[in-house]
Amino acid sequence: MKKEKKRLLLGLAIMVCCAALSLVLLTAVFPKGPVALAAAPANALSESGVRIAQVEKTGSGITMLTAKDWENTYPEIYASYSMNSENDSAEDYVADYPMISTLFEGYGFAKFYGGARGHTYVIEDVTSTGRPHAMANCFTCKTPDFTVLANELGDEAYSLAFEDVLQQVNEPLSCYNCHGNTGSTLMVTHQYLAKALGSDLEKVDAATLTCGQCHVDYYFAPGTKATTLPYTSLASMNPDDILDYYNNLMVDGEVFADYVHASSGVRQIMVNHPEFETFTGKGSVHYGTFTCADCHMGTATAADGSSYPDHYLRSPLDNQELIDSTCSKCHADLPSFVHGIQEKAEERTYEIGYKLEELINKITDAANSGAYTDEELDAIRMSYRNAQFYWNFVFVENSEGAHNSRLTHECLDKSEALIEETLALLH
Ligand code: HEC
Ligand code: HEC
Ligand code: HEC
Ligand code: HEC
Repeated sequence: MKKEKKRLLLGLAIMVCCAALSLVLLTAVFPKGPVALAAAPANALSESGVRIAQVEKTGSGITMLTAKDWENTYPEIYASYSMNSENDSAEDYVADYPMISTLFEGYGFAKFYGGARGHTYVIEDVTSTGRPHAMANCFTCKTPDFTVLANELGDEAYSLAFEDVLQQVNEPLSCYNCHGNTGSTLMVTHQYLAKALGSDLEKVDAATLTCGQCHVDYYFAPGTKATTLPYTSLASMNPDDILDYYNNLMVDGEVFADYVHASSGVRQIMVNHPEFETFTGKGSVHYGTFTCADCHMGTATAADGSSYPDHYLRSPLDNQELIDSTCSKCHADLPSFVHGIQEKAEERTYEIGYKLEELINKITDAANSGAYTDEELDAIRMSYRNAQFYWNFVFVENSEGAHNSRLTHECLDKSEALIEETLALLH
């Protein structure tokens, strides 16, 4: 019995060695391309059952497999990834939200602010926007060519000249961003997310974290200009603590600002697409049951009847298969339900946006009037900064209230209350 077991183990060992050897030989002969690349192991599960994301290593010698390199291994996934080009229309926010040319005055977004579209358009959109780019940090969420550079060089990659890095950019957002070179394991390749969450990284499912690498608020750190997230744990990933974070961040003796509003002198914070913070935030109905991928990817069926994760990232309202298989169990009419939530949120976003516009014009008048002391003006500007922050947090979130309507209205309530407080400071 013992002997037999030993023989079996030996046989197995030889088989494993042969398999490994042939794999090594195969990859040496066909480094990539015609041969299907090997599938990587699945993500480990935490005690609470979430898939733990692996974090990409840093340092020199990192190369990147392109989407095309995976085409033969995962033809359906590659084809669905290519479908992202179908989502080709973008909104012109400057035309649709007339108040923002006043609110964002002195900042590029006041003149050129296009809505989002499909992942395959990122390079085209970042190079064609009318907003000027000085540094490579603008590539952070656009291309794995830059992700690799940041993993290789560390923070110094972010302040390289935009035009120099543009020469090295070929691949729009692709497999590497979410899977590294494994082609299937879920990975965090953007180090700033791992840095911001620390050990909390294991508490969030990897299929949400991969999206949280880019669909988050961020700022460029004064000094290094490195892309940085304004929190240090999951618990501090909420609008109140984010505002505190920015208000406590001092740069050369002044409070941090993404831009200074030209006429009124308000030191402003620009919030950017906080989908991750909003969806995982307090009040979220579906956080814990669904990941970003559950609603924006779903499962598709191949010609042979097998299923695969659909990599055409889109609105769940544009995914009838997903609605039929999953959402309709509880939502009899998901589109009208969602549109109802969005209309309410949008109506208030406009209303409060116009109130902010009126208020900031009043602050400009106050600053020019000579009737206020510097201390009074500083208090007014600070109060206004906070009011616009809460509105901004909602305005730039791409679901228009659908991800977390409770948090959305809480932010809008806070913005309105701060507008009243600021008005009371004006005499
Ligand atoms: C490497 C950065 C990055 C990652 C990772 C990422 N996104 Fe995006 N996403 C973007 C950018 C940038 C855009 C806007 C593209 C444009 O307009 O040029 C976008 C656009 C989108 C859109 C289309 C928005 C619209 O209004 O049409 C959806 C949907 C989306 N992302 C969902 C996801 C989901 C779900 C994940 C995770 C599975 C994810 N994204 C991961 C950067 C990223
Ligand atoms: C924006 C992030 C993102 C990009 C880009 C992306 N994936 Fe994925 N991929 C995911 C997520 C999230 C899942 C998990 C979906 C789920 O299980 O809910 C996944 C799942 C997979 C799986 C299945 C893994 C398993 O164990 O079930 C494979 C294989 C895969 N992706 C391959 C690719 C390939 C090849 C590319 C490039 C052509 C690619 N992915 C691009 C996010 C991404
Ligand atoms: C419970 C389902 C659900 C989950 C989970 C979810 N979303 Fe959404 N998301 C939606 C709905 C509904 C909309 C609004 C779609 C529309 O207006 O057509 C939306 C809109 C978006 C948009 C704008 C795209 C568009 O076409 O309007 C982006 C980008 C986005 N979500 C990213 C994310 C990210 C990133 C996560 C995870 C942090 C996430 N979503 C989690 C349901 C979900
Ligand atoms: C097990 C039941 C169930 C399933 C399945 C389900 N939902 Fe929900 N969903 C709910 C409940 C309950 C609410 C809260 C309803 C309310 O606030 O009136 C909700 C709310 C929502 C909201 C609004 C969230 C907010 O903050 O107001 C969105 C968006 C949403 N669901 C999208 C989806 C999508 C997309 C799917 C399919 C992928 C889905 N749901 C599947 C039960 C479900």
